[in-house]
Amino acid sequence: MIALGCDHGGYPLMKEVIKYLDENSIEYKNFGTFSQESCDYPVYAKLAAEAVAEGKCDRGILICGTGIGISITANKIKGIRCALCHDCFSAKATREHNDANMLAMGARVVGPGLAIEIVRNFLSTEFSNDERHIRRIKQIEG
Ligand code: RB5
Repeated sequence: MIALGCDHGGYPLMKEVIKYLDENSIEYKNFGTFSQESCDYPVYAKLAAEAVAEGKCDRGILICGTGIGISITANKIKGIRCALCHDCFSAKATREHNDANMLAMGARVVGPGLAIEIVRNFLSTEFSNDERHIRRIKQIEG
């Protein structure tokens, strides 16, 4: 189950992501926002990130205008490793190395074609389970 969250800036791209998830029968829970009316990204970042942190969702996708505000917010929630990715290499690497459980993107940064490829890489890549990466992730949590 994928947790989704966006603000008004991310809403148009989130519609494209939802279309991709539907076409590929990938289950999701959408925490909003649900329109292009101006809103505050922390509200939606927190709802989606808490669902991932509590184990109600396996991973999450967050989108705002830049991806920055929404990723900063998500990373304040204990247990969340939210990676801001605007290329496929990073999306794959952050799964393999950081076991990132949330992906953030900026709708004003990437177009829908690249964004969907980033999502595909993020969702299809497993954590490497390498000892050195496990050790480093433990150090993030302190
Ligand atoms: C909203 O205008 C914009 O500030 C927001 O989507 C995001 O880019 C913040 O980091």
